Amino acid sequence: MNIWGGRFTQGMDEAFERFNSSLGMDRRLIPEDIEGSMAYAEALEQAGVLSAQELRRILEGLGQIRDRAQQDPDFLADADDEDVHSFVEARLVEIIGDAGLKLHTGRSRNDQVAVDTRLFLKKAIGQVQLSLKGLMGELLNQARKHPDVVVPGYTHLRKAQPILLAHYLLAWFEMFSRDRDRFEDCFRRTDCMPLGAGALAGNAFAVDREVLCRKLNFSRITANSLDAVSDRDYLVDFVSAGSLTLVHLSRLAEDLIFYSTPECGWIELSDEVTTGSSLMPQKKNPDSLELLRGKSGRVIGNLTRLLVLLKGLPLTYNKDLQEDKEALFDTLDTLLDGLQVAQVVVRTLKIDAEAARKALEGDFMAATDLADYLVRKGMSFREAHGLVGRIVLECEGRRIGFSELPLSRYRQFSTLFAEDLFQALSARHSIEARSVTGGTAPDRVAEALSRAEQSLTLQDPSERGNRV
Ligand code: ARG
Repeated sequence: MNIWGGRFTQGMDEAFERFNSSLGMDRRLIPEDIEGSMAYAEALEQAGVLSAQELRRILEGLGQIRDRAQQDPDFLADADDEDVHSFVEARLVEIIGDAGLKLHTGRSRNDQVAVDTRLFLKKAIGQVQLSLKGLMGELLNQARKHPDVVVPGYTHLRKAQPILLAHYLLAWFEMFSRDRDRFEDCFRRTDCMPLGAGALAGNAFAVDREVLCRKLNFSRITANSLDAVSDRDYLVDFVSAGSLTLVHLSRLAEDLIFYSTPECGWIELSDEVTTGSSLMPQKKNPDSLELLRGKSGRVIGNLTRLLVLLKGLPLTYNKDLQEDKEALFDTLDTLLDGLQVAQVVVRTLKIDAEAARKALEGDFMAATDLADYLVRKGMSFREAHGLVGRIVLECEGRRIGFSELPLSRYRQFSTLFAEDLFQALSARHSIEARSVTGGTAPDRVAEALSRAEQSLTLQDPSERGNRV
């Protein structure tokens, strides 16, 4: 059954009817569709279009539809209406009769779908923010649990300099903080009420948009009816922020896959997030992390999908826009699942401090510290760099580490070397020296940790009044 048949003499082609239908996808918007319709019905009554009695019946009918949709999953699954908006209107008329036929006065599905999607997205952002905070909280827990563990830091996937594990974990915290910020920004732009734009030109029944705005818990109304029905920037913002979060999760996954290899070994993944091999009994594979890495691809795909969807569209509403929802829902589901799995991975990580200590031996990770030592004794850095490079070459040739080279040989390289050079080689010394703000020195990391803890307790604006 459709809601626009008057000027047609022929029914729809069956294949086109299937093609045109979006109910299978947009039925997820039913709570928001009903919320928007209830507020709109009240606005119509205020505008004198509906009597108080008609309003009461419409609200009752919509309430029944909402309850039934909540309780009975087949309610929507069995329907053949074109989309969620037609579904609700058709059921309303079935339940309350003629009064239901007045609900759509002055409204279009074009402003209706925009308000539904914005309402949905505002709640969705609240959920994402909570999940992000959950993951960030677990990163902080691990950092707090292992304040003294030193691990190798990498550049170019080669061991570079020692760092505190807590410093490493806080780097991820920073990334997810920026994600939080981006979602907040996205929330601010989504938080704008489009109802009253009609099909494109505005509403002819003097509905009070400011009252609608307050009722639906938006902070402002859209300024231009043409833009209101064709704008999907808020979806691009969300999927773009989501893509970057997934990219961060993917990079985290890549790191943890690497650090949990037997070749590194200072991280162990729990049984809860690993799988075995159907053939090789010894295997414990990091599938959770590989899937996190893999699923980032689909969300990046969703972003491309939305941008391509929008790029050639003329003003104002075009049916192409119906294709936006899959990108939204898939991004939201992938994000929430991904954040939850990442949270479990981080919460159940085991750190092997002994393996980390062993991983710091060899590989000349103290080379920079050795050069810095010479600089402190008066040599220029570039000269020290060259000199230490030659010491590395010699040690490599003799298959020994810095600490096995005798002082007498060091002194042949430079008389600035003295007995205290061996202290400069320790990982502890290395991290303590890096005491600038943002560096890996234990005091700085402790400060960063408490700052991070404080920031996590702050409530996001999206959480206020949008609790999930
Ligand atoms: N189902 C449509 C969508 O999701 C809304 C309906 C607007 N359709 C129309 N023919 N004006 O975009």
